[in-house]
Amino acid sequence: MRFEVGGEIATITMDRPEKRNAQTFATWSALARIGRNLPGHVRVVVIRGEGPSFSAGIDLRMFTTAPGQGSFASVAALDTDALLERVTEAQQGFLWLRRPDIVSIAVVQGHAIGAGFQLALSCDLRILADDAKFCMKEPALGLVPDLTGTKPLVELVGVAKAVEICLTARTVEAEEALRLGLAERVVPRERLDEAVGELAAALLTTDRDAAAATKRLLLGAAARTLEEQSAAERAEQAVRLRTLFGGERAARGD
Ligand code: CAA
Repeated sequence: MRFEVGGEIATITMDRPEKRNAQTFATWSALARIGRNLPGHVRVVVIRGEGPSFSAGIDLRMFTTAPGQGSFASVAALDTDALLERVTEAQQGFLWLRRPDIVSIAVVQGHAIGAGFQLALSCDLRILADDAKFCMKEPALGLVPDLTGTKPLVELVGVAKAVEICLTARTVEAEEALRLGLAERVVPRERLDEAVGELAAALLTTDRDAAAATKRLLLGAAARTLEEQSAAERAEQAVRLRTLFGGERAARGD
């Protein structure tokens, strides 16, 4: 995993192309650590994978290696509290990508399978190369998607399409992903970097605090009634107005 910061943009690169950026508990700990230590001035986080594929998902050695070597067998042997804690820790690698003070962008080429698909789903936005392929393979392996991907998937495509995609474990190619709302943009592979640069630059044109407040509103909208959401808009706007134009004292000319 490489982590680079250039100005207000941080880039996380999964860098095991020879294994198609297969993920392990170490991957998720590293992601969580990056989230915890993200420099305060960063506003855009880009996640990408080196090589032909974004990520082939969980490292298949976890299915076969002996207990004690980061395998599923060693996790399954834990008592329930410890097992749930282990998965909670893994999920921490994904959850911070929705923080209101940043916008996260997954840059997907080639395969994004299982944990790879979920990592892309945990980002706010997805830019795809035209050879991108999503697949939620977990149910085919006897497991469920548990790396925070089910909620964003349902929010993006609806329950029926999410059921169909997950329970058939079929591949969703780039053009369909765009149609379903799983991608903001699909570009030829050679234009991927350019497209991400353009999007990041556009995101940085808005006011930092207004962007964070707006993202907070948008993220909370689904769980609120219209009245509650209107109240949340008022509360956020009051802060913006006071910040931009001063408080009551300023209005009185004090
Ligand atoms: N784990 C470990 N190694 C993997 C891997 C994975 N998930 N995916 C690929 N690799 C390794 C291959 O074993 C191969 O290694 P060697 O060169 O040492 O033989 C190398 O990466 C290249 O693989 P391929 O030759 O298969 O590369 P490809 O470009 O032709 O195909 C691919 C890419 C379609 C992703 C294919 O490798 C593949 O299907 N991989 C398995 C995908 C998978 O089933 N992932 C698990 C999903 S489930 C999940 O993530 C969550 C969960 O909770 C279970």
